[in-house]
Amino acid sequence: MEKIAIASDHGGFELKVSVIASLLNKGWEVDDLGPANTDSVDYPDYGIKLAESILDKKVERGIVICGTGVGMSIVVNRFPGIRGTLCSDVYTAKMCREHNDSNILIMGGRVIGEGLASEIVDTWLNTPFEGGRHQRRLDKINEIDAHLKSKSSGETR
Ligand code: RB5
Repeated sequence: MEKIAIASDHGGFELKVSVIASLLNKGWEVDDLGPANTDSVDYPDYGIKLAESILDKKVERGIVICGTGVGMSIVVNRFPGIRGTLCSDVYTAKMCREHNDSNILIMGGRVIGEGLASEIVDTWLNTPFEGGRHQRRLDKINEIDAHLKSKSSGETR
């Protein structure tokens, strides 16, 4: 079964513990990138770790949790190739896989409870990307990344 990376900050720690238990119970391999307790930490440090574990191809997908999910959303979506999606409902968890090929599921540990989070995680993990017209749209996002990269390296268009 696919290996899933997971990280949080202190605001998402308790939900992370519950999500890890549920994933292990269902047979997923889990790479916990921290933190190890509820001591106060800075969410960018853990969002960066998770994004890098995907970009370094250690895992294909991951889950990050902070208090609201907003801080982690801002952090992980700064990385080209990351499609992080904040989900507080099962419908969004399904659609962000089918239409957006989400590779990071983001949740707010102070926003949703364990039961809903578990349904969101199961739906997100088990829903395939539809491709087709949705791939065309993702290609346009990839073009933005390529354009910004060439701009920062001084190339002209
Ligand atoms: C930490 O108090 C909180 O700011 C963080 O977990 C997150 O919600 C930030 O967006």
